[in-house]
Amino acid sequence: MSILSTLVVGLCILAIFYRINKFRDRKYEEPPLVYYKYPIIGHTWDYCTNIDEFLSKCRKEYGEIFSIYVFGTDITVVGKELGHEVFNSKNASSSAAFEDRVPVARILGLPPNYLNFAAEIAKNVFIGQMHLFIVKTQQSLYRDIDELIGDCDEPKIIQNPRQVLFMIVSRTVTNILVGDKLGHDKDLVDIFMNFGNEFNKLMRIPEYLGFIHPWFFQQSIIRFGGKNIEKIQKNVIDKIRPDIEERLKQERKYGDGLKPPVDCIQFLLNQPGVDKENIDYMWISGQLLAITFVAISTTVTTINNFLLDLASRPEYLDSLLEEQEQINPNNDRIMDLDQISKMKRLDSFLKESLRLSGNILSLIHRVIGPELKFSNGYQVPKGSLIRIYLKNVHHDNEIYGPDSNEFYGYRHLEKESPASKVSRDFLQFGMGQHACPGRNFAVNEIKMFASILIKKYNITIATKSGMRPPNFVINGISFPNPEPLIFEKRVKVWDKNYNLKLDNEN
Ligand code: HEM
Repeated sequence: MSILSTLVVGLCILAIFYRINKFRDRKYEEPPLVYYKYPIIGHTWDYCTNIDEFLSKCRKEYGEIFSIYVFGTDITVVGKELGHEVFNSKNASSSAAFEDRVPVARILGLPPNYLNFAAEIAKNVFIGQMHLFIVKTQQSLYRDIDELIGDCDEPKIIQNPRQVLFMIVSRTVTNILVGDKLGHDKDLVDIFMNFGNEFNKLMRIPEYLGFIHPWFFQQSIIRFGGKNIEKIQKNVIDKIRPDIEERLKQERKYGDGLKPPVDCIQFLLNQPGVDKENIDYMWISGQLLAITFVAISTTVTTINNFLLDLASRPEYLDSLLEEQEQINPNNDRIMDLDQISKMKRLDSFLKESLRLSGNILSLIHRVIGPELKFSNGYQVPKGSLIRIYLKNVHHDNEIYGPDSNEFYGYRHLEKESPASKVSRDFLQFGMGQHACPGRNFAVNEIKMFASILIKKYNITIATKSGMRPPNFVINGISFPNPEPLIFEKRVKVWDKNYNLKLDNEN
C-alpha cells in the first residue's frame, strides 16, 4: 500500500473515531439530529445541492430547532421562534464561531476579542462623527459616480457592477479610516479593497477537510492563506507609518493647540495605553483591516442587491424620484441627515431588498458558556455551532403577510420599522448586543448613493426578460447575481439643474 493510501485510510479511521465520540457525548436534551443514511457524509450532499428544499423539509418534520451533520460538524439550525434567544444569550458568540471559520484575529495578530474594539470604532467614529462624514461621503460619491459610471448620454452597460461598487465603497471607507490626506492614496484604497478579496479566497478553501477534523480546515486557512494577508498588512503599515509619525510630530509641537484629524487612525492613537514613543503598527493596521473587512463587502453586496431589485422593477423609479424632489426641491448637492431620514420610500425599498437578499442559513454562533438552554427546554452544549435559519424568519407569512415571498418595495412604509432597525423579525444586521454597530452609517451611505443614481440615471437590467436574476447561494449565504446593469441618462427637466450644479463644483 502506498503512503498516500495508508494516510487516507488512517484519516478515515480518525474521522469515524471522532464521530463515534461525538455520538457518545450527545445528551438527551439536545435538539433532534435529522436522520441521515451515510456515515461521515451525513447531510453534506443535500446541504450543498439544495439547502433551501432540504431545510424546509427538516423544518416540517422536526420543528423549530434541529441539528444537521455537514462537513464533519453538527450544526444546530434555529428558526423564527427561537433565533432571538441565540442573539440574546451571553453563552453564544458569533465572533468565536467566525474566528473558527476565518481566523482573522490569528492572521492579523489581533486579540481574540478584536471585534469588540471594531464595534467601538464603528460607534465612536462612523456613527459618532456621522454628521461630518455625511458631507465627505456625498462629495466622494458624486466624484466616483461621475468617474466610474459617467454621463451615459448613450446607454452604458456596466459589465461588472460589483467591481465598480467595490471601488466606490472602498474609497468612502478608506477616507474615514485614514483621513483626507491618505484617503486619496489610490494604492491604499486598492489594498483595502483587495483585502476583502483575499479573505473571500480563504473562504473558498474546501470545507471537506472538516470531514477529518475541523482543526485541519483551520490550519489549512492559516498556512495557505495567511501569507498573502501578511503581505497586505505590511503594505498598510508602510503607507500609514509616515503619516502617523507626522501626526505625532505635530502633536508634540502644538500640544493642545492642534486640531487633530477626525478618522479611525486618530481614534486608535488616542486610546488610553497607546505608547506614542513606540507605536504598535501591527495593532493599528490590524484594526483598520478588520474594519474594512466588516464594512466594505457587506455594503457592496447590499447595494448590488438593491440595484438588481431596482433595475428589474422600473415601475418604482418615478415614485422614488418624486420623493427626492419633495425632500430636496432645490436639488441641493449635499443633503443633511434630516433629509436622508425623510427618504421613507427609498428606505422601505432598501429594507425589502435586504429582507429578500436570498440568505437561507446565516449568522453562525458558537456556544461558549457551559451550554445554551432554549426556552423550549432543549440544551446545546459548549463548543456546538448554531446557525440562524434566516429564510424562515424573513419569508414568514405571519410576520410579513401571505405575500411574504413577493418583493413589494413599499411593504415597510408607515410601519415605524426603518431599514436600520434590528428586531427578531429582521435579522440582516444581526440582533442583540452584537448587532451591527455600523448599520446606521451603512443605510445612510446606501440611501445617499441611491439618491444620486435615481436622480441621474434610468437603470435597467441586461437580461432579455428584464426580470431579476436569482442570486447564488453557497453554504446558505447569498451572493448577488453578477448580471450587468445598463445606465442611461435620465431625461427630465430636473437633469439640467443637476448637471449645472455638477459643472460648478469647486
Ligand atoms: C449593509 C452593510 C452591512 C451589513 C448588512 C452588516 C451586517 C452585519 C451583521 C449581520 C453583523 C453580525 C451581527 C451579529 O452577530 O448579531 C455585523 C457585525 C458588525 N458590523 Fe456590520 N454590516 C454592514 C455594514 C457595516 C459597516 C459600514 C460597519 C462600520 C464600521 C460595520 C461594522 C460591524 C462591526 C464592527 C461588527 C461586529 C460587532 C460585534 O461583534 O460586536 N458593519 N454586521
